[in-house]
Amino acid sequence: MANEDDRLVFEVNGQRFELPEVDPSTTLLHFLRSQTSFKSPKLSCAEGGCGACVVVLSKFDPVLNRAENFSVSSCLTLLCTINGCSVTTSEGLGNSRDGFHPIHRRFAGFHASQCGFCTPGMCMSLFSAISAAESSGGPPPPPGFSKLTVADAEKAISGNLCRCTGYRPIVDACKSFAADVDLEDLGINSFWRKGDSMEVRSRQLPAYSPKDHACLNDDPSSYVRREARRLNSGKHSWFTPASIAELQELLQLDSAGNAGRVKLVVGNTGNGYYKETERFDKYIDLRYIRELSVVRKDAFGVEFGAALSISKVVMYLKREGKSRVDPVFDKIADHIEKIASPFIRNSASLGGNLVMAQRKDFPSDIATLLLAVGSSVVLLSGRNREKLSMEEFLSRPAMDAKDVVLTVSIPFLEPSRIDGSIETSSRLLFKTYRAAPRPLGNALPYMNAAFLADVSFGKDGRAYIDSVKLAFGAYGAKHATRAKKVEDYLAGKMVTVEVVDEAIKLAKDAIVVPEETSHAAYRSSLAVGFLFEFLNSFSGINSAISPASDSNGSFPEGAGKSIIDTPSIRLQNSTILSSAKQVVESSSDYYPVGEPMIKSGSAIQASGEAVYVDDIPSPPNCLHGSFIYSTKPLARVKAISLDSREPADVAAVITAKDIPAAGKNIGSMSVFSSEPLFAEEITRFAGDLVALVVAETRKSANQAAESAQIEYDTEGLDPPILTVEEAVERSSYFQVPPFLYPAEVGDFSKGMDSAEHKILSAEIRLGSQYYFYMETQTALAIPDEDNCMTVYSSSQCPESAHRVIAKCLGVPDHNIRVLTRRVGGGFGGKALKSIPIAVVCALAAHKLRRPVRIYLDRKTDMVVAGGRHPMKVTYSVGFKSDGKITALRLDILINAGITEDISPILPHNVIGSLKKYNWGALSFDIKVCKMNHSSKSAMRGPGEVQGSYIAEAVIEHVASFLLMEADAVRIRNLHSFDSLKLFHGSISGEASEFTLPYIWDKLAGSCNLGQRVATIEEFNASNVWRKRGISRVPVVQAVIMRPAPGKVSILWDGSVVVEVGGIELGQGLWTKVRQVTAYALASIKCDGLEDLVEKVRVVQADTLSLVQGGFTAGSTTSESSCAAVRLCCNELVERLKPVKDQLQKQRDGVKWNDLILQANTTGVGLAVNSMFAPDPSSISYLNYGAAVSEVEVNILTGATTILRTDIVYDCGQSMNPAVDLGQVEGAFVQGLGFFMLEEYLSNPDGLAAVDGTWNYKIPTIDTIPKQFNVEILNSGHHQKRVLSSKASGEPPLLLAAAVHCAARAAVKAARKQLERWGCVDGIEQTFHLDVPATMPVVKRLCGMDAVETYLKMLSRVDKKG
Ligand SMILES: Cc1cc2nc3c(=O)[nH]c(=O)nc-3n(C[C@H](O)[C@H](O)[C@H](O)COP(=O)(O)OP(=O)(O)OC[C@H]3O[C@@H](n4cnc5c(N)ncnc54)[C@H](O)[C@@H]3O)c2cc1C
Ligand code: FES
Ligand code: FES
Repeated sequence: MANEDDRLVFEVNGQRFELPEVDPSTTLLHFLRSQTSFKSPKLSCAEGGCGACVVVLSKFDPVLNRAENFSVSSCLTLLCTINGCSVTTSEGLGNSRDGFHPIHRRFAGFHASQCGFCTPGMCMSLFSAISAAESSGGPPPPPGFSKLTVADAEKAISGNLCRCTGYRPIVDACKSFAADVDLEDLGINSFWRKGDSMEVRSRQLPAYSPKDHACLNDDPSSYVRREARRLNSGKHSWFTPASIAELQELLQLDSAGNAGRVKLVVGNTGNGYYKETERFDKYIDLRYIRELSVVRKDAFGVEFGAALSISKVVMYLKREGKSRVDPVFDKIADHIEKIASPFIRNSASLGGNLVMAQRKDFPSDIATLLLAVGSSVVLLSGRNREKLSMEEFLSRPAMDAKDVVLTVSIPFLEPSRIDGSIETSSRLLFKTYRAAPRPLGNALPYMNAAFLADVSFGKDGRAYIDSVKLAFGAYGAKHATRAKKVEDYLAGKMVTVEVVDEAIKLAKDAIVVPEETSHAAYRSSLAVGFLFEFLNSFSGINSAISPASDSNGSFPEGAGKSIIDTPSIRLQNSTILSSAKQVVESSSDYYPVGEPMIKSGSAIQASGEAVYVDDIPSPPNCLHGSFIYSTKPLARVKAISLDSREPADVAAVITAKDIPAAGKNIGSMSVFSSEPLFAEEITRFAGDLVALVVAETRKSANQAAESAQIEYDTEGLDPPILTVEEAVERSSYFQVPPFLYPAEVGDFSKGMDSAEHKILSAEIRLGSQYYFYMETQTALAIPDEDNCMTVYSSSQCPESAHRVIAKCLGVPDHNIRVLTRRVGGGFGGKALKSIPIAVVCALAAHKLRRPVRIYLDRKTDMVVAGGRHPMKVTYSVGFKSDGKITALRLDILINAGITEDISPILPHNVIGSLKKYNWGALSFDIKVCKMNHSSKSAMRGPGEVQGSYIAEAVIEHVASFLLMEADAVRIRNLHSFDSLKLFHGSISGEASEFTLPYIWDKLAGSCNLGQRVATIEEFNASNVWRKRGISRVPVVQAVIMRPAPGKVSILWDGSVVVEVGGIELGQGLWTKVRQVTAYALASIKCDGLEDLVEKVRVVQADTLSLVQGGFTAGSTTSESSCAAVRLCCNELVERLKPVKDQLQKQRDGVKWNDLILQANTTGVGLAVNSMFAPDPSSISYLNYGAAVSEVEVNILTGATTILRTDIVYDCGQSMNPAVDLGQVEGAFVQGLGFFMLEEYLSNPDGLAAVDGTWNYKIPTIDTIPKQFNVEILNSGHHQKRVLSSKASGEPPLLLAAAVHCAARAAVKAARKQLERWGCVDGIEQTFHLDVPATMPVVKRLCGMDAVETYLKMLSRVDKKG
């Protein structure tokens, strides 16, 4: 039995835990989710990159002598590090039983959650920021608000990912707490109505007061202040030495050979990157050693203890920078605030970062900065303390595991003077640079740099460099380096064009990006860009473009203004989402349908009480599964072996051989085909499931699966088909049923004949996109009596899962029951792709007679997901000189992967959305290629987003060819209603429903398009290194209704329970269903119906309770579910009418509750089950919308900032404008991820080469439009639609092409400038901008050597001058 000091003691939401034995590798998240009832911290990435697991830690700081509250990622925080701390999770802030916290209520009221999986983490990040603001001193905020500022509110959630909302409503919820918020700036919410005064608005907000720091007590004595020296865990121990001497003792014991491997630990965030699974004998927590946790200052500089968190270092640097007016400290602080996210910086230590850089070549920001400012570290090796310059530290051989970084010093810097021969004013200049896909952090940089120069300015205003330090890092080299040759060259030089030119040449030789590094050429160009910007920032090369520049080529007087801001710098002090406007035109025709009601369950989502599959407690005896998948595309599996050193608690390795004799090797099925669950003899693609390891814990299962070795053999097998070209060569295609193959329009040859110009055989390639739902694929199977099985599945199609499970197990359908309550994001990825997970759980549970659950780790999820269909498109287009297109021919090769899945519908979808323009004649050949890749599946707007984009690419190409504005070409080719009918046939509906022309013009007016085009031209003419572009694109997208069931039951107390086939994925389906139920039942017209909607509850999908559920996809499931429910309600009303009439005879008014009581007593059936079958004549319809986006491209880094987006979208008569607005914004932001950011790369064998948040970058708060205006148009009555409503889930995603086209316009401006500078190679105006247009892509098109070209031009101008 452990003695008291050896116990780990902490609190969670006020509940005390004392643990005698803890495995030191246990994370806080694992403990919370498996050992407590607190499930609000979610597991999503397990690497610190998403924020789903954020909790607030309250810890007593002995140095400050007070308790501090700060957010941490519980997936990386080791449980042993929280000894004596208090943990608060979102349900600890407030909950449905004790009352929600104002944060929860505001998240709900601002419509800031959809699937809700990210929401508790968001709430905790915000709570931590509020908490920090409250303890920062300063004047009290106005009542109901906190001391948070708007800027801090936005930054608070900069590291939290949300895949659903598009962030805007989340930002509003956060900003609503800020003392300096202008309530006018906050978007649609349930607290106030348009026109309410500011007083009313602030009164309506759920009031916040500092006492809302539930569970967090500022009284230090209430904290358990324990400093246990050792926590026992049998073989693995956790030590917390309190002094260097104790540390040395622990380390020495080892060197004497007494103990085995040692791991020094501070925040353990390094494990987010390195994912060590190795177990150590001793874990030594460094944070209790005073020397490592304090800051010391003397006349020469500041010394930081190595265990100080980055957040603390930032705080000290800022404070010091302010008191000394020291730009170096300030700038270091600003830069390292871009490291990771607040919840990582709060626990990540300064020393840990440097050790990772030193020992493992980690692309550190801190190492680069400290190298430039001449920092040093004190290193302890055994008894030996050594002070090393940063350069010595980084360049020595990798530190030993027992070497300890004790302190890190940053010197105070004073400018020195150059020799006194000329009178000078000397300035110390320090700048840091960071080019990364996310301006605010949570993304490793492609390159970083820090430059420090002593610069003198002569009387003539010329800049002389006395001395300079140039440090570059994170570009693939072993560690940050100084470009010494460049430094030596620049020292003592006057800055001239020639000098800059030479310095750049030398820098290119000095900073050599290793060839194997991704985007090597791009990274090299960044070094040039950074150096150029720095030298120019004090010498003003911009104005030297003028022919009047000094004949010596020196930079003109008065120079010194920076010409570019790297995105990170530019965003520093401004708000991220500067403004947003939502216009919603609601309608009360079908009240409460049409009301922007709060989404059902949003408050419990915020508090974390909403139950997702992985939140269901494991039944006793539950096992966990983890996949072994093939890494070869086409190979025979000879043998599978597990590492024998791995944990012994593996219960079984399930393969195809375990499928019961009566069953079938089937993992999913669509209307086109079925897919095997496991590869049998031969694996057909990299990622093919070979086996499932089932073990007692998830960790064991994952480790065992990871350790698995597969022996392959490819003898006698054909080579795999990995490219669409190979598929064509080998005629490897899937058949597309003729009724699904789209119809051509007009006569292509005739159209071409009438063309005045032709572009022939142009090519576009489009890549894939990963769903990145926050909740990965998951299921839990529980065996029941008599060979029955209940499976909880996070699925968009439980009914299909049900059928496939039955087939696989060889049992009748009625033996299986699949339950789905809610899904943590689907986007199509939890349709067919969720089924194998449910099936394999059921199979393992069936075989082992024990419950089995699976929750895929992010990497495996990315391997098996499939994702969006990549395509190769070749097109030929004919057109007239005025831009009118007369004919378009497309040859499209679609990579469908190994099985059909839903791929045969792709041709229909691609062409459907491409027909948004009148092409004159349209001809195509589309091949759906069968390849040795994972099956590609539906992803939000499958095929449609590609089709819509192809249309824009053709338009842009024609415009470039004709030297016309793309917008003019678009206008020239927009449909009239007649041409719409020609292209789309009967689904075009009535002329009055064709709202696109109206939307198109309305948008131009509301966003001031004409004037902004002119302003952009001016901007581009006067800015050399930043170019802007603007683009307007339309969307015309068909959707199709499907049959859907519904069941409405009225209970004794008058409350109503509804079941629908549609699944709540976050799209607000349940909310709309509730509204329609209330509307339809209200037609009974009795008293007490005012709050009927509150009496309606939609419950989980249960495939035995409601059959024929179908699947939730294609944007129309909400509508059809509502229609089904309406049928049920109508029937109920019919049944209730006679009862009501009877009652009315006896009394004046009839109350709802009395009516129901009476119906029950008289035996009226109060449960109705109905099936909605859409009318075949109006089963499909068109949706319309348009978007204008304006972007700014930074020519030096390739970064694109979306300055503004305006959207107008026709929702018919929206059933719930708040929900539809969320769909529009969320879809748009997901689309901009596809167009601008997300690279779903695979290796040459087709295996996903991206495996999580480090290398797959979905949009974050800092990459969405800075100004984001959305208008939901109410286009009135649509007779054939469900309550006049139209779809909102997918079409708006297509509008994100506007961002890509705007970026293209900006790149075009950059290329024109390059041409003017005399660059002749490869700068035609008819270029293709890849999708996604990432920073390297944009930079390549803006000229990798733009700086060199510019300097050459300047030299020429000089010479002429
Ligand atoms: C999501 C995420 C994003 C990130 N982004 C960036 C980024 O953009 N730029 C950047 O520079 N960094 C980034 N980092 C890295 C981050 O700064 C480091 O993970 C962190 O500073 C490590 O500190 P730690 O206390 O958590 O170290 P730990 O994880 O506890 O330790 C890391 C390693 O250092 C050893 N160690 C720790 N302290 C000492 C010491 N004093 N002496 C000797 N050995 C020691 C440990 O044994 C271990 O091997 C990111 C990290 C995460 C998780
Ligand atoms: S799960 Fe912890 S940050 Fe993603
Ligand atoms: S609501 Fe944010 S991930 Fe779904």
